[in-house]
Amino acid sequence: MQVQKGGNLTAMSDIMIKLSHKTYPIHIEKGLMDSIGKEIKKIYSGKKIAVVTDSNVNSFYGQKLEEALKEENYNVKTFVVEAGEKSKSINVLLKLYDDLLGFEMTRGDLIIALGGGVVGDLTGFAAATTLRGIPFVQIPTSLLAQIDSSIGGKVAVDLPRGKNLIGNFYHPEAVFIDPNVLKTLDKKFLHDGMGEVIKYGAIKDRALFDTLLSFNDDEELLNNIDEIIYKCCNIKKEVVEKDEKDKGDRMMLNFGHTIGHAIEKYFNYERYTHGEAVAIGMYKITEKSEAMGITEKGTADLLKKILIKYSLPFEIEALDKCKVLETISMDKKNDRDRINIILLNKLGEAFIKNIDSKLMENYI
Ligand SMILES: NC(=O)c1ccc[n+]([C@@H]2O[C@H](COP(=O)([O-])OP(=O)(O)OC[C@H]3O[C@@H](n4cnc5c(N)ncnc54)[C@H](O)[C@@H]3O)[C@@H](O)[C@H]2O)c1
Repeated sequence: MQVQKGGNLTAMSDIMIKLSHKTYPIHIEKGLMDSIGKEIKKIYSGKKIAVVTDSNVNSFYGQKLEEALKEENYNVKTFVVEAGEKSKSINVLLKLYDDLLGFEMTRGDLIIALGGGVVGDLTGFAAATTLRGIPFVQIPTSLLAQIDSSIGGKVAVDLPRGKNLIGNFYHPEAVFIDPNVLKTLDKKFLHDGMGEVIKYGAIKDRALFDTLLSFNDDEELLNNIDEIIYKCCNIKKEVVEKDEKDKGDRMMLNFGHTIGHAIEKYFNYERYTHGEAVAIGMYKITEKSEAMGITEKGTADLLKKILIKYSLPFEIEALDKCKVLETISMDKKNDRDRINIILLNKLGEAFIKNIDSKLMENYI
């Protein structure tokens, strides 16, 4: 194995993910893409690198990354998939296997995922399964990927029957986050990622929530985004280290997701982005839990305020409650009869409540 685990990244903005079987760094630094070749050199002493990216990200950063790696004398080939969720499919995966094997990749080589969550999940799953596992590195470029999907080892592709139905836990050797790349990210996707950022504040960090509430506009947010990313990654680190396989505390990250996933599915993934659906899910469940006296008064209003600030929805026009409940009961995360839902005691403090599925309708 030529990948040197852990590397020698020790700057302030480094976070180490420490699992029982593996430790790896998340390096966060504005302008990191300018020295990315040298950063990869610190952790990988092999020769061959396959870069996987999507058509949008490739047009901004593909050439830059390939040139930086070639400058370090790597043998590099870039494989580009179409931008969008449709690329997280079996067909694209099969083509990617063929590309990687056609490039004669071995288990001693390295794969780099350069892109948003789609590229990260697809590439991670390809890396996990090609030749029973090739080391890979994440260079996440969307806000969602930088604070969520690139960390924690979940990799997957979708099936016609549903999202993320074939997957694995497979961690990267390192994650390199350059917040400057968010400057080219469409505002729609920036706000989409903010859904998950707000979630971290709501479940674990009241100060983060208040900071987000205090920003006047996206410009102020982007000026401070490296610190925000750092805080989110740290929360995810703590949760993942305690519960890598999603059987306990990691479920806390699903705040807003039980209803959110059902809304996404109900509208066939066409009407609401993931962040938008989670935003509605967080508000809806909190509105109900507050009315039941479980959540501190005023919490739903603050959630509404912050969602409006980041152009995220908090409500949805009339939808068929029965269909949503049916979708929730089919979610792979839920047992047939019981559901784990995530509620807030107050902002910054969440807990898991295991309820009879029949009671779910009280929370919608
Ligand atoms: N593995 C996990 O733990 C996990 C967690 C959450 C979500 N996900 C998955 O992540 C996926 C969604 O990720 P996403 O929101 O990043 O979507 P995405 O990968 O489709 O990226 C969103 C869009 O932004 C573009 N883009 C990305 N970075 C850019 C940049 N810097 N400049 C310009 N354009 C850029 C992409 O080309 C795409 O069009 C879903 O498939 C979801 O299931 C996985």
